[in-house]
Amino acid sequence: MIGTVLAFFSLFSEAMAAARERTFIMVKPDGVQRGIVGKIIKRFEEKGFKLIALKFMWASEDLLKQHYAELAGKPFFPGLINYMNSGPVVPMVWEGLNVVKTGRQMLGATNPADSAPGTIRGDLCIQVGRNIIHGSDAVETANREIALWFTEKELIQWKPAIESWVYED
Ligand code: RTP
Ligand code: MG
Repeated sequence: MIGTVLAFFSLFSEAMAAARERTFIMVKPDGVQRGIVGKIIKRFEEKGFKLIALKFMWASEDLLKQHYAELAGKPFFPGLINYMNSGPVVPMVWEGLNVVKTGRQMLGATNPADSAPGTIRGDLCIQVGRNIIHGSDAVETANREIALWFTEKELIQWKPAIESWVYED
């Protein structure tokens, strides 16, 4: 009996922890210039994910180099930093069940030539060097990126009125 109760609570807390997973999504300068910020936000809103933070800014080269530090050795790195620094961006934090993995699926493959139709990249862009949106590739990466782009105070705690219509528990 106690085992069943414990198993229930462990499953429950696992689901709650997963529901609180967060990802870092950013509309890149080409997405901003092309006027599709609203469309991208709408996809995440309509899916049922919860917006935790959002801002509009022109990121410094230093911040962008930190953000893409893992790719520093790649031949496309200088071009990537120039591209990301060529105009304002819209960094955001979204929360929800499995939002990191689902967010990546919603973005589609890195190279839009391989992104499935129906995904953001698959529907809205053509080349890998102009692929309009960034999304964290793992929970640990998301945590690092969120801390890099936002202060703790900028992450807003709130309860959406629709929550019980998006999650059954
Ligand atoms: P992101 O970090 O921007 O969400 O993209 P990703 O995880 O799908 O791909 P990643 O390997 O992290 O690459 C970061 C960004 O670098 C540009 N890129 N260019 N020319 C190239 O071969 C090339 N490969 C990657 C893309 O803008 C990619 O999103
Ligand atoms: Mg990446």
